[in-house]
Amino acid sequence: MKHPVTRRAFLSQAAALGSGLLIAPARVVRAGAGQSPNAKLNLALIGTWGRGAAHFDAIRGENVAALCDVDERHLASAAEKFPQAKQYVDWRPCLDQKGLDAVICCTADHTHAFIATWAMNRGLHVYCEKPLGNSVEEARVVRATYLKNKHKLATQVGTQRHANENFNRVSELIRDGAVGELEQVSAWGNRKLPRPGYLPAQGEPPAHLHYDLWVGPSPFHPYNAGYFSGGPGMNCLQWNMYWDFGTGQVGDMGSHTMDLAWKAIDAALPISAEAKGDPFHPEVTPVALEAHFEHPANRWRPAIRVSWYQGGLMPESPSSWVDLRRIGHGALFEGSKGYLVADFDSRLLIPAGKGADLTYYKGRTKDTLIPPLGGFQQEWIDACKGSLRTSCDFDYGGTMIEMMMLGLVAYRVGRKIRYDGAAGRVTDSPEANELLRRTYRPGWTLNG
Ligand SMILES: NC(=O)c1ccc[n+]([C@@H]2O[C@H](COP(=O)([O-])OP(=O)(O)OC[C@H]3O[C@@H](n4cnc5c(N)ncnc54)[C@H](O)[C@@H]3O)[C@@H](O)[C@H]2O)c1
Repeated sequence: MKHPVTRRAFLSQAAALGSGLLIAPARVVRAGAGQSPNAKLNLALIGTWGRGAAHFDAIRGENVAALCDVDERHLASAAEKFPQAKQYVDWRPCLDQKGLDAVICCTADHTHAFIATWAMNRGLHVYCEKPLGNSVEEARVVRATYLKNKHKLATQVGTQRHANENFNRVSELIRDGAVGELEQVSAWGNRKLPRPGYLPAQGEPPAHLHYDLWVGPSPFHPYNAGYFSGGPGMNCLQWNMYWDFGTGQVGDMGSHTMDLAWKAIDAALPISAEAKGDPFHPEVTPVALEAHFEHPANRWRPAIRVSWYQGGLMPESPSSWVDLRRIGHGALFEGSKGYLVADFDSRLLIPAGKGADLTYYKGRTKDTLIPPLGGFQQEWIDACKGSLRTSCDFDYGGTMIEMMMLGLVAYRVGRKIRYDGAAGRVTDSPEANELLRRTYRPGWTLNG
């Protein structure tokens, strides 16, 4: 079914949208998404360069009806691939474009929770790059909005390594008891991005960059070209160490690497958090950090401790001949009868301790293995068109990132805090409760 947009309709829409809308194509196609797996989705891609461009292949078969980027050069380059799409520099009018079905968000981290929530509030399916939020509150708002709409919306957090078959194998080994009874899980990342503080003011931003929109809801920091000096898909490393734009490695590689553990441990929210690392810096997130969380028992395992290490801090190795530091981003599962060490692609089982003869562990037959996920973006596209089922929906991914963000809160207060996950409150520190949320510039609403 096609709804041509007349010039008159376009002009009145453009007037309503103000400067957010730059250019309009002749027509927009509206497909019956959700009804037929063959229908094309009307998609908006917000953040069109870098990580955004990494989605081009996956969405080639859909109708890319809107492109949005604060950098007009990036917008123009994506428009060469998708000339039929309307173009925006502001994601707010973009999300109000009539006829959209779904949104892919690849912007800077400090806008993810906003775009994801606004999109779901407008009935749109969402694929959101990691991290899903930059604070406990953001994670909770996104998750709650998804849970309210899960009967009709498909969501996916962009942790595409989840599709690696190793994630399934690790999960099977842990659930099937290859390390005995699970006691503790640690994930770590070795990326170090030390920064002295926000970059100094460097005059006016270039004309093609809508810098104030890039800063968006965050407190304003003056323009510096350094925030935009990274290569495609790596530019996030130019801004994600600063508190107002990112959460450092906690949200960056932490989103991917904790996912390796998270899939296997079937965890809900922790009941406590404690963390330590580099001395607190008001502008820059810590390079070295370790955070520990107590998780209650669930139906198949006892209570466990979950830990995150970064920037050179590491869990203790199970043996002097296992050098965990050789694994840049990995996870260690510790159980009553051994250890499992894993990175994104491979794993190593180490039976250890009394009676660790593996008689208690029965490997699966081929037909009982967890089936391959297939294409990670495709899983979401298929979900938008009917199944609504994805592996990293905003409940799964939102819960995980809420825990990680709570770790940063514990780091900031410098002591163990107790957490009521149902209420989203720290029960023993008013100071910590203040840190569950970020402060936004006037005019920006998270749940809009
Ligand atoms: N899943 C992965 O493996 C993976 C890999 C790299 C980056 N990422 C994530 O993707 C996101 C983008 O990373 P990047 O390195 O491409 O960053 P980037 O700074 O290059 O931004 C990507 C694009 O988004 C645009 N943009 C930024 N803020 C915007 C806004 N408010 N509205 C519209 N457009 C906006 C930028 O101009 C740019 O074109 C980050 O959140 C990062 O964590 C994920």
